Amino acid sequence: MYVVQIASECAPVIKAGGLGDVVYGLSRELEIRGNSVELILPKYDCMRYDHIWGLHDAYRDLWVPWYDGRVHCSVYCGWVHGRVCFFIEPHSQDDFFNRGCYYGCNDDNMRFAFFSKAALEFLHQSNKRPDVIHCHDWQTGLVPVMLYEIYKYHGMGNQRVCYTIHNFKHQGIAGNEVLQATGLNQAEYYFQYDKLQDNFNPFAINLMKGGIVYSNAVTTVSPNHAWEAHYTEVGSGLGHTLHQHQDKFSGILNGIDYDFWNPEVDRYIPFNYSSDDFEQKVYNKKALRERLLLRDEPKKPVIAYIGRLDNQKGVHLVHHAIYYALQREAQFVLLGSATEPGINAHFKHEKNFLNDNPDCHLELGFNEELSHLIYAGADMILVPSNYEPCGLTQTIGMKYGTVPIVRGVGGLVNTVFDRDYDPNKSPEERNGYVFYQTDYGALESAMDRAIGLWYNHPQEFRQLALQGMAYDYSWNHPGTEYLKIYDRIRHQ
Ligand code: ADP
Ligand code: GLC
Repeated sequence: MYVVQIASECAPVIKAGGLGDVVYGLSRELEIRGNSVELILPKYDCMRYDHIWGLHDAYRDLWVPWYDGRVHCSVYCGWVHGRVCFFIEPHSQDDFFNRGCYYGCNDDNMRFAFFSKAALEFLHQSNKRPDVIHCHDWQTGLVPVMLYEIYKYHGMGNQRVCYTIHNFKHQGIAGNEVLQATGLNQAEYYFQYDKLQDNFNPFAINLMKGGIVYSNAVTTVSPNHAWEAHYTEVGSGLGHTLHQHQDKFSGILNGIDYDFWNPEVDRYIPFNYSSDDFEQKVYNKKALRERLLLRDEPKKPVIAYIGRLDNQKGVHLVHHAIYYALQREAQFVLLGSATEPGINAHFKHEKNFLNDNPDCHLELGFNEELSHLIYAGADMILVPSNYEPCGLTQTIGMKYGTVPIVRGVGGLVNTVFDRDYDPNKSPEERNGYVFYQTDYGALESAMDRAIGLWYNHPQEFRQLALQGMAYDYSWNHPGTEYLKIYDRIRHQ
């Protein structure tokens, strides 16, 4: 099968979070199974060019219709760890992708509407006719809309779209100008409840809703989150739209790429190890302590947080966990990136305040290499999210024998099973700690249980870590699930 993925991220070249991991990992899995996969991405100035091999002009003159004129683009082709990627660079269209960031600009809707249009135009002009176009999140929500309303009439009537929603929080709420720019004329047609009209604001369009309405299949990134999005406020207003399209909506748990996230082969960690020589992990812990100038206290556990510092992630609990860990004779390491200025300022302040403490280190910013050392060197990983469509840090952590302590929401429910109580799992199948409420008490009691086991029953703690390592959260199963969906929509 020929699959083209259209996305705003692909790890490790363009990665703000898990979306990048998923786009890369799924593509690789599909290829391993003999499918032909290509990716279309924006050519950002700030992406990691050191991970792209053989970047060259693929298609010198791509002209993209935009408003009443056309925008000149270059399309570059390169290999990202073996995957063929096409990078689109518009010339002079407000320097859409030369902003030193991936997201967070006032005109994000326009930037990614343009990208979606350019991606389709590239497929059209270069005569590429994939069996399935797989697009991701609000940034590419207009792809199926334009495919159906415009490109179908340009020889692309047989292309099917699978649309994956990674985060319902960001939907791409836009004005009429996006329709005008992309050639989706007749605004009154799109401003209808069963089309793109936003479910909260009748004077706005919703790009994610467009993706749901027009795609042949819609997925989100865990079965539990599919349920939550459908039936609770986590769907951020799209629950009813999902209901109307429920026959094509499902949740598929993300995998992780065990070539990239694997302590046996990880190039970023000083000591490789597996469950057979789990003792080696402790040398990574030592290396982590040295690197972050933590006191070498062999007896103390290291608890880690790796992730965006955002309300989604339960930052109030992250903050509390740092102090509680110190109080409970544990060390704490945080690697986090904040885009919201208030949260950023808060953690900067905490960093200045705490970094003299030899049992604690806060590292702000995005650092792929360091994240690997933390997964390998920490003993526990905290994921106290308010909501979490899937979450990858808990499954990556488990692969590295790092015990997750998570809040029981979204994909965390599908991946972490409480050591002390889980009616559906035998004690041998349990792999971490789960708490449910968002108050400090709930967090503290889960941390108490984990730290208590560490100090009082070290052999049992080790066994719990090994049980986490034994889980298969690779792309093997989700790869099969996506292929089933592709097959189904191809024959529709
Ligand atoms: P989300 O996509 O909501 O940010 P996920 O848990 O799905 O959360 O994925 C987060 C991914 O981003 C993981 O691969 C994690 O290791 C990585 N990550 C998050 N923050 C950082 C950071 N500050 N530095 C390095 N990697 C990070
Ligand atoms: C989103 C979600 C996260 C998920 C990731 C990859 O950013 O916040 O839960 O794991 O996408 O699908």
